Amino acid sequence: ASTLGAQAAQSGRYFGTAVAAGRLGDGTYTTILSREFNSVTPENEMKWDTTEPSRGSFNFGPADQIVNGATARGQRLRGHTLVWHSQLPGWVSSIGDANTLRGVMNNHITTLMNRYKGRIHSWDVVNEAFADGGSGQMRSSVFRDVLGTGFIEEAFRTARSADPATKLCYNDYNIENWSDAKTQGVYRMVRDFKSRGVPIDCVGLQSHFGAGGPPASFQTTLSNFAALGVDVQITELDIAQASPTAYANTVRACMNVARCTGITVWGIRDSDSWRSGENPLLFDRNGNKKPAYNSVLTTL
Ligand code: XIL
Repeated sequence: ASTLGAQAAQSGRYFGTAVAAGRLGDGTYTTILSREFNSVTPENEMKWDTTEPSRGSFNFGPADQIVNGATARGQRLRGHTLVWHSQLPGWVSSIGDANTLRGVMNNHITTLMNRYKGRIHSWDVVNEAFADGGSGQMRSSVFRDVLGTGFIEEAFRTARSADPATKLCYNDYNIENWSDAKTQGVYRMVRDFKSRGVPIDCVGLQSHFGAGGPPASFQTTLSNFAALGVDVQITELDIAQASPTAYANTVRACMNVARCTGITVWGIRDSDSWRSGENPLLFDRNGNKKPAYNSVLTTL
């Protein structure tokens, strides 16, 4: 096939991109978006600071724009993200009472999932809950500090009741290298959830890579998670300098793991990237395909 989405579909996978509502008026951007991708992740529009800036008052305008556009283009959607310590409004991070915070968290999850029921193939229920470095433990956040480490289980159970049909993912960065303590911490949590019947369907590996691309163990990490009985997805791929080899190595690892169900790049053109100084994406700022594009297309 001649586009990323169509090529990925030949093996039953999707190939997606992050989309920013503010760019939907740019014709070069939307031309590439419509032509190449069959899945969309809102880059910021479903985050808590945008969707519930004050308690109980929800703002779905920007997210609706992306969801309606993707649906009109026949693209699938990833939901990103329900519970995250970052881009979290101050009114949430200052809650000190556990029962209040539990109610607020569960209401946020339920309200967003109900709004987009039937339209989201996978939801990042909890994002980036584990600490960097050698601890292998959860990071400090209002959720962990006030609710305890059980907040992740609580969030996934609430999410399953809100929408039993969508896939529920745990998403994080720096969990691509198998031997890292952070990877091991997430792995132990997923294993524990599966053994106790806590609902979880997928692990998202963000995959924000340096110029060398994925660690040598990347495919091992994907298959070890998959062996626990979850899908794996590459959810926010970008690679400093976008070397074709680094991109091919990433895509090949996914293709070699049956339960790696899709890949999302974190933006379209280098100029759209949160790491724009590193030129990490598949299209240059004029919207032309970069060498990494062809390397991805031929590896899919
Ligand atoms: C980034 C967006 O790309 C930026 O526009 C925003 O300013 C900050 O967040 N991990 C995630 C994504 O899960 O939501 C982040 O997206 C990148 C890191």
